[in-house]
Amino acid sequence: MATGRRTELTVPGSGSCPATVVPLEHPAGSHLVVARSGPDALSVDEVGLLHAMARVSSMTLRMLSLLDEERALRTESQRQSAENARLLATLTEHQELLERLAVEQAALRRVATLVAKGERPEVIFALVAQEIARISNVEHGFVVRFEDDATLTIVAKSGSPEMPMPVGSRWPLDGDSVAARVYRTGRPAHVDDYRDVTGTIAAAMPSVAFSSVGAPIVIGERLWGAATATSVPQPGASAADAEGRVAQFADLIAIAISNADARAQLTASRARVVAAADEARRRLERNLHDGIQQGLVSLALGLREAESMAPADPPELPVVISRLVDGLSGVMDELREISRGLHPAMLSEGGLEFALRSLARRSAVPATLTVRFTRRLPQRVEVPAYYVVSEALTNVVKHARASGVDIDVDATNGVVRVSVRDDGVGGADIRRGSGLIGLVDRVEAAGGAFTISSPPGKGTAVLATFVLGDEVGADVVSP
Ligand SMILES: Nc1ncnc2c1ncn2[C@@H]1O[C@H](COP(=O)(O)OP(=O)(O)O)[C@@H](O)[C@H]1O
Ligand SMILES: [Mg+2]
Repeated sequence: MATGRRTELTVPGSGSCPATVVPLEHPAGSHLVVARSGPDALSVDEVGLLHAMARVSSMTLRMLSLLDEERALRTESQRQSAENARLLATLTEHQELLERLAVEQAALRRVATLVAKGERPEVIFALVAQEIARISNVEHGFVVRFEDDATLTIVAKSGSPEMPMPVGSRWPLDGDSVAARVYRTGRPAHVDDYRDVTGTIAAAMPSVAFSSVGAPIVIGERLWGAATATSVPQPGASAADAEGRVAQFADLIAIAISNADARAQLTASRARVVAAADEARRRLERNLHDGIQQGLVSLALGLREAESMAPADPPELPVVISRLVDGLSGVMDELREISRGLHPAMLSEGGLEFALRSLARRSAVPATLTVRFTRRLPQRVEVPAYYVVSEALTNVVKHARASGVDIDVDATNGVVRVSVRDDGVGGADIRRGSGLIGLVDRVEAAGGAFTISSPPGKGTAVLATFVLGDEVGADVVSP
């Protein structure tokens, strides 16, 4: 039978009362106490009831505390998930930033690769306009060139066609626009909303909110133009970031243009050097032919006359004169050879194949010549092609210790290929002499390309290629 511990409890207002104490299962160490005024303690039934109440109280308190715990847990997990959401947002933001950077880097790399390959500036412009539009949701990319009369020309553009600024169109740099700001300051600039500015360009923009950033293209000290990016404003986008991005492309364009300028100047200067050398050769040949050779010819004639008139005594005289005549004609032959090497007259008269045949025939190392076309090529190509074969053959004889050499010339699909291969010792080095480097100059000045491959022990292959334009050959077109 359930009993409670009996005791006395002082109850305010009732004095000391008999009380019964029943322990509670929960919370541990707590008790349920019932005190009643008057002398009687609780009856057995009442104590039983008290025990039942104690169990109910314990259970209720236990439930309350579980609820508390659970509430605390829920608060904690809410705090955790808020924290998780924040972390996730940060991660997503970083992820987006990284992806954007990767996209930007890839775009810059594509442009830089073309720049490094020496691609033509127009191709670079078009690619930059595209790449600018591709990065960070920009709708229109432009590359513009500033002209001397305070106008700009659109040299490349990408994006939807509703932007009424076609490539090749010219725009005054009046009023305000991102290009005008770059033009006036020479620095990156932005316009937040084109509806807030005036000027010819602003007036031509579609009448929606458009913002624009631009960066200068500076070549040397000169402000050449600008690269710009135009789009509907992006919430939270930083104009400074966008300017920085566009500026990187503008810098690549500047490199592309100045490289192209330098290359063009180099080619022109090489062409001048080659032309001057050729002119000197021609003059020398003319002098040899018209002056010295003629002089020698009349000397020879005079000697022959002397030979026929020479008296029989002393008997050595006709022999000496005859030897002089022979020597003189030997000298004349040599001179003719030299002047032929100086300027290939045969080339202008007989064409490339004819001139090459003569070179191959005279080669001290057995040479085979294969020419796979019959028409005349433009002089621009024939002359350097001749010199390539002539120098390469001379090198084979001088350096290669070869048993044979193959000369191949063909012209297919508008490309002329001149190749000279020997089976000699290889190891040719363009830096060691002046012949091969002269060929590089000559071929590149003619717009061609020159390569040499000469692994030690594996022979030497020289190749020159020329792309034919619309030009026609020098004269004859044989079937
Ligand atoms: N066909 C070849 N085989 C082996 N070595 C070569 C050949 N052509 C050129 N060379 C090497 O490369 C060097 C550079 O050639 P080149 O510029 O024509 O100068 P050069 O003939 O005046 O010495 C030569 O000095 C020679 O050592
Ligand atoms: Mg040489």
